[in-house]
Amino acid sequence: MQTSKFKSLFNFAVINKNCIRTATETGTATRKDKIKPWKEIPGPPSLPFLGQLHHFMPGGAFSDMRDPLTTMRLIETYGPIIRLDSMFGKRPLMFLSDPESVELVLRSESSYPIRPGFDSLEYYRKVYRKRKGIKFHATGLLSDHGEVWQEFRSIVNPVMLQPKTIKLYTTVLDEVAQDMIKRMRSNRDENYMITKELDKEMNLWALESIGTVALGCRLNCLEPNLSTDSPEWKLIQCVHELFTTANQIDFIPSLWRLIPTPLYNKVMKAYEKHENLTKYFIKKGKDNMKNKSDTEKAVLEKLLEINEEAAHIMASDMLFAGVDTASNTVIATLYLLAQNQKKQDKLREEIMSKSERKPYLRACIKESLRLMPVVAGNARRTTKVFHILGYEVPKGVDIIFAHREMSMMEKYFPRANEYIPERWIAAKDDPLHYGKAHPFVYVPFGFGARACIGRRIAELEMETFVARLIENFQVYWFGPPPKTVQHSLNYIKGPYNFVFKDIK
Ligand code: HEM
Repeated sequence: MQTSKFKSLFNFAVINKNCIRTATETGTATRKDKIKPWKEIPGPPSLPFLGQLHHFMPGGAFSDMRDPLTTMRLIETYGPIIRLDSMFGKRPLMFLSDPESVELVLRSESSYPIRPGFDSLEYYRKVYRKRKGIKFHATGLLSDHGEVWQEFRSIVNPVMLQPKTIKLYTTVLDEVAQDMIKRMRSNRDENYMITKELDKEMNLWALESIGTVALGCRLNCLEPNLSTDSPEWKLIQCVHELFTTANQIDFIPSLWRLIPTPLYNKVMKAYEKHENLTKYFIKKGKDNMKNKSDTEKAVLEKLLEINEEAAHIMASDMLFAGVDTASNTVIATLYLLAQNQKKQDKLREEIMSKSERKPYLRACIKESLRLMPVVAGNARRTTKVFHILGYEVPKGVDIIFAHREMSMMEKYFPRANEYIPERWIAAKDDPLHYGKAHPFVYVPFGFGARACIGRRIAELEMETFVARLIENFQVYWFGPPPKTVQHSLNYIKGPYNFVFKDIK
């Protein structure tokens, strides 16, 4: 009797201990005694002294991170969970391509999710500028974390995410789209090909669009005689330089955290240049503010009424995050529609119908973001211990979710290599219906409280412009497919073999 009483007390203590453990350790249902330590997670083998560094050297598994196939090769070699140890002060890293585990991490994040990946920007804004005597409170959504991030986000959310508010920019974004069509017409040669670099042209459209929404005035990026010395061109070059170089110190093992390397100096100078250029544009926006009605107000003006610091930072971040993202997605959509003429004709039919609802247009862009996403994956820093696929993942690990790779897997999206916008609007019983894929496979704008703040603006911009493009041109592509190069963003590289024939 006594013994059984003790036994039940003992059991209670064990249950209680387990309850306490599950409050801090979150994971899939693998028995605790079977959980393997972090060090046993598969990954490229380590060498004494060098660790995993040699894999980043020529010939190594990570030597060409610019090749978008690198991650898929790693998944094929090591499986859905891959470990990379800490190097040169960079945190340990993990690649995850199992949607249930991705869901587990994203759903159990704290109220202040941490997205790693902009370490150099964070350093520039918090350390480098401070050394130059510039004081800061918030530094922006891309680089802030914790309470400061949440306070900032709660100020900008209503201005940037409410569909009703975003819809007010429809007319001005359509004006930009129509001006861009005119510019493209006048920039074609006798073969109906654009004579200028198409990526830069699309950047001009994206900057003009996001600039108009952010600052409330036309920047005039689409002027026929825009000089390459103009602030508009300089800003485009600078954003491109930042997304391509910062990546090398943010993701690839580098000594910059210990000593100022030449690349570090280059990146810091580029951030400084971006800051000075955006100051010029914000001034332009402020000079144009007079006598605007509430419906005409831009993001800058609306935020200035709430918080001046947030207004400046958000306008600057929009001119950073809103240029290459939207322009590369439009290039991808044009390429995929050019390669799929029937889908292009179907889209044109919907656009010409003048119906308010445009489900096929949305589906075409969604499918482009699946096949050729501008952001390959997403990331979170663990804020607690996780049990993932039978392994213990400690606090403070950076996890990269391989959304692009999962979106290309046949088990989630049947006929994964094909451009099938129909899957996004198909009936539930259709085998192609998108709902057959786990919802955490394809998440192009991220998830939860930290999801992309520019999503609604980007969607409106892209839908408006793609509609005008397809209304005006029959788009063709000839020759081999374009190459994609992976930096912080995925860039579709030239030569751009597009032909833009007028629709009669
Ligand atoms: C095709 C267009 C775009 C795509 C695919 C995209 C994708 C993303 C993704 C995946 C994230 C990370 C979300 C997460 O951590 O869960 C993000 C964050 C962010 N995006 Fe976008 N984005 C796009 C356009 C834009 C535009 C136009 C803007 C500017 C208004 C913008 C501003 C931002 C900002 C400021 C964040 C950080 C949000 C935060 O941490 O609170 N993005 N975006």
